[in-house]
Amino acid sequence: MKPLFPKWMNTLPTVAFALVNGGVILVVAGMWYYATPKFWEVGYMPVQPDSGFNHQIHAGKLGMDCRYCHSHVEESWHSNVPSTQTCYGCHSEGKLGPQASATDEKVQFIRDSYESGKPIEWRRIHKLPDYAHFPHNVHVAAGVSCYSCHGQIAGMPVVAQAESLSMAWCLDCHRAPEEHLVPKDRVTDLYWVEREWMNTPVADRSVEGVTPEQLLDSLYRNPPEHCAACHF
Ligand code: HEC
Ligand code: HEC
Ligand code: HEC
Ligand code: HEC
Ligand code: HEC
Repeated sequence: MKPLFPKWMNTLPTVAFALVNGGVILVVAGMWYYATPKFWEVGYMPVQPDSGFNHQIHAGKLGMDCRYCHSHVEESWHSNVPSTQTCYGCHSEGKLGPQASATDEKVQFIRDSYESGKPIEWRRIHKLPDYAHFPHNVHVAAGVSCYSCHGQIAGMPVVAQAESLSMAWCLDCHRAPEEHLVPKDRVTDLYWVEREWMNTPVADRSVEGVTPEQLLDSLYRNPPEHCAACHF
């Protein structure tokens, strides 16, 4: 008569134990890796001066395009933060927008800055070390949405860093960019990108006949992996 359980199964509890143990080790290793300083920066959300600036109101509710304020992002390596002048256009009377009837304390700092000529000192959130260089214009022109690197900014009352900005993070996308490419006129349409594009499996994505393969083919160059592209 054959035994009910084959002999090798005697070792099963040991194997199971080893697997569980291995799992624990993986978790510990994972924590170790992600707890290194470069990953702490995810979620970095400094307190801004005065009443701050609310993207959820301006880019979300009012539907303002990112480029209204970050106006250099298509032409320059550097994405500028707007000057007081840009805010003053709407808040010149010290009101919440041109249509508002009464003045509001919350926007007084904009008039103060405008009248004194002293810029508002926004605290910087996303920052690479000086030895690494990042071109905004190239990414925007290639169809990489702000969403892929900054998260759902249009839904953030206060901006928080969404990604590690580590070298591994840059290279992960450079090796497989197709997942992140969106039709070029949608780069700043963050809600559309999140809901309609990123929520669809890559193979099923297409809008007005534009597919991820076509977007990949339209790249000016392949994303670089050689050191001198980012370190010079
Ligand atoms: C009405 C002007 C305005 C609009 C529109 C706007 N922003 Fe901003 N943005 C600002 C200001 C002012 C700051 C600096 C204060 C802060 O960080 O909240 C800023 C900060 C940021 C930062 C963080 C900068 C840093 O220090 O690292 C990111 C990223 C950003 N904006 C992305 C976007 C994106 C993406 C959109 C479009 C969905 C957008 N912004 C729309 C005015 C604007
Ligand atoms: C295109 C017009 C426009 C521009 C440009 C604009 N704002 Fe506003 N902002 C508004 C309107 C309208 C509201 C009121 C929206 C609401 O309460 O629904 C508002 C509200 C605010 C508030 C009050 C937010 C709150 O918590 O209730 C602050 C603070 C503010 N803006 C700061 C800024 C700053 C700083 C800039 C420049 C970086 C800026 N705004 C540029 C139209 C604008
Ligand atoms: C491929 C990734 C990527 C994309 C796409 C991207 N950014 Fe950035 N952004 C970064 C990185 C990295 C930094 C930090 C750059 C540095 O320190 O040199 C940054 C910094 C910024 C800053 C802060 C600049 C400063 O001096 O305070 C703003 C504002 C900003 N981005 C806005 C945008 C907007 C708006 C878009 C979409 C039109 C966008 N970014 C698209 C990666 C990206
Ligand atoms: C979400 C995807 C994505 C991320 C994240 C990303 N990149 Fe890119 N990058 C691209 C694509 C796509 C291109 C190719 C653009 C082209 O040439 O058409 C590119 C091109 C570049 C180039 C080449 C510019 C040129 O003139 O050819 C540099 C430099 C670069 N990236 C630096 C960085 C750095 C530094 C980071 C991290 C801080 C980063 N990228 C993160 C997608 C990404
Ligand atoms: C796509 C852009 C990109 C390329 C290509 C790239 N790097 Fe980096 N590298 C970065 C960024 C961004 C950082 C900063 C990471 C941070 O802040 O944690 C960095 C950081 C580093 C550091 C500092 C230590 C660390 O890991 O944080 C070294 C060393 C380095 N890179 C070497 C290299 C070498 C060698 C190559 C070529 C094999 C290379 N890099 C290619 C973007 C790049």
